[in-house]
Amino acid sequence: NKVVLAYSGGLDTSVILKWIKETYGCEVITVTADVGQGEDLSGIEAKALATGASKAYVLDLKEEFLTQYAFPVLRSGAVYERKYLLGTSFARPLIAKYQVEIAKREGADAVAHGCTGKGNDQVRFELTYKALAPELTVIAPWREWDLSGREALLEYAASRGIPVAQSKENIYSRDQNLWHLSHEGGELEDPWQAPSERVYQITASPQAAPDQPEEIVIGFEHGYPVSLNGERLPPVTLMERLNAIGGQHGIGRIDLVENRLVGMKSRGVYEQPGATILSVAHKELEHLTLDRETMHFKDQLALKYAELVYYGLWYTPLREALDAFVDVTQRTVTGEVRLMLYKGNCIPTGRRSPYSLYSMELATFGADAIYDQRDAEGFINLFGLPLKVAALLAKQRSTS
Ligand code: ARG
Ligand code: SIN
Repeated sequence: NKVVLAYSGGLDTSVILKWIKETYGCEVITVTADVGQGEDLSGIEAKALATGASKAYVLDLKEEFLTQYAFPVLRSGAVYERKYLLGTSFARPLIAKYQVEIAKREGADAVAHGCTGKGNDQVRFELTYKALAPELTVIAPWREWDLSGREALLEYAASRGIPVAQSKENIYSRDQNLWHLSHEGGELEDPWQAPSERVYQITASPQAAPDQPEEIVIGFEHGYPVSLNGERLPPVTLMERLNAIGGQHGIGRIDLVENRLVGMKSRGVYEQPGATILSVAHKELEHLTLDRETMHFKDQLALKYAELVYYGLWYTPLREALDAFVDVTQRTVTGEVRLMLYKGNCIPTGRRSPYSLYSMELATFGADAIYDQRDAEGFINLFGLPLKVAALLAKQRSTS
């Protein structure tokens, strides 16, 4: 019997590793994904082995995370509940996919994760297991054991000699990758309570941000971000730079009371500096290159796309079908956007594209060449016909 565990190296998954071995008496293989969580993963294999794993995989998934998950979501325009750019939501299916792959390679019969029974993440992991390897058994210790809360975990760790590196001070539940950093728990559980400044890790407060605005230019090809200030950059480098620049200017802090899939509302604070810059820039370029009906329809689909991703329905025909639609819309989303970053604000100031649908000649208030203002009269008469007829009939009825 072998179990493949999604392992971060933190307190929870370290305890889980030991607990699975003790409870099920089986071999545990760990998988740690580097999705840009900004931690040094060099010691993680040794730590997993010291805690009892028979084998420990550490995978660099940063580029795949961006090109196959984050950028497709960016291109779709999906935003969950008006604010959240879904950074954790689409990281789970990627990690779970590799867990499944390793389970198959190692001939394991079960997979395990460290999500609680009250959150979204358990759903995202397990829907991926179901879609890609329905035969695997799922072990979710948080739903099975009777350790409750951090104190119990610390005690368990101490009694089993599990090394606990972090201080006991960390009260927030956090999740970081190249797209964002999320914070939940602690004082944030009171939705009226303002987040204390120590919550934030990767963004400056707008007050502390530079007094001088900074202008940047983002380049896109078919909806994929490819350059910064005219310099072509590989995805990971581009993202790291945007996070640094955006963070410095206090861009992308959000505070959200969100509807979890499992039915409860929860309050989360997110830092998404680079992702916010890209999201603002991408939308701005679409304003220049998408025709009206395509853009309006795409905005409706983006709501659905966001739900799918948030709900963990990544590996579904509907998501693939939506991506096919998005692909067509992005054929012309190539060009550049200028933005001004200033104390928490990310303000577009210019855009250009070889596929621009904007015609200066058409829009100008100067002399008309292709637009004949006399055409507008007939257009308004027909467009307004139903309004006029309804009003005339109502008037007739009230006087008869
Ligand atoms: N509420 C966000 C979401 O559902 C973030 C979850 C963060 N997960 C975590 N294990 N800290 O996507
Ligand atoms: C968890 O409960 O494991 C984290 C929060 C979430 O999944 O929504």
